[in-house]
Amino acid sequence: MRGKFITLEGGEGAGKTTLIEGLKGALERDGLTVVRTREPGGTPNAEAIRELLLSGDVERWSPISEALLFYAARVDHVERVIRPAIERGDWVLCDRFADSTRAYQGAAGGTDRARLDTLHKFALDDFEPDLTLIVDIDPNVGLERTWARGEKETRFEAKGSVFHDRLRQAFLDIAAAEPMRCAVIDGGAPAEAVLDAALGVISNRLGTP
Ligand code: TYD
Repeated sequence: MRGKFITLEGGEGAGKTTLIEGLKGALERDGLTVVRTREPGGTPNAEAIRELLLSGDVERWSPISEALLFYAARVDHVERVIRPAIERGDWVLCDRFADSTRAYQGAAGGTDRARLDTLHKFALDDFEPDLTLIVDIDPNVGLERTWARGEKETRFEAKGSVFHDRLRQAFLDIAAAEPMRCAVIDGGAPAEAVLDAALGVISNRLGTP
C-alpha cells in the first residue's frame, strides 16, 4: 500500500521542528514506518544547494534564481527519497516543501505565482503532498523564538518585518485556496496542544492504518 506524504509549512519559529518530532513518535507508535526529512535538503545534493541558499548576503539571489535552486534541490529530494519512501509504504514527514517557494519566493518575494506553477509542473508534474499542515504564528513571536535559540541567522530570517507579515498571509491564503490539502494549526498554542491538533487533522483526513 502507498504511504502518505505530509508537509509542514509556516514562517520562522512556528515550531515545526518540535511538532515533526512529536508526530514521528506518535505515528511510529501507531505502527507506521516514518521518514522525517526537510527542505531545502534531504539528500547530499540538496544539502549542498541548501548551503548556497541560506548563507551569504540577504540580496545574494533574486527570487527567480532562488526558486530555481529550491526546485533543483526539490527534484533530487523527491526522486531519491520522498517518492521511493511513499512507494515502499512509508509515511513521509517533510519540514517545508513547494508551499514555502510559493510563499517566500512568490507572495512575499514578488515572483508571479503563475510562473511558479509552471516551474512546479515542469519539475514535478502534479506531485503534491497528501496533507499540508500550516503552522501559523505571529511573525514577531516566531522570530523572537529563533533569536532566542541563538543560531546563526539565515538569509530569510534577516528579511524585514513587511516580508514576514506577507509570508504569514501567504501561507493562510494557500490554506484557504486549497482546503482539501491544507489545514491551519495554531503555532502559538503550547507544544502539546499543537501536537494534539495536528494528530487530530491527520487522523480525520488520512486515517491511520
Ligand atoms: P531553516 O533554517 O530550515 O528554517 P526553518 O527552521 O524556519 O524551516 O531554513 C530554511 C529557510 O529557507 C527558511 O527561511 C525558509 C526558506 N525557504 C524558501 O525561501 N523557499 C523554499 O522553497 C524553502 C523550502 C525554504
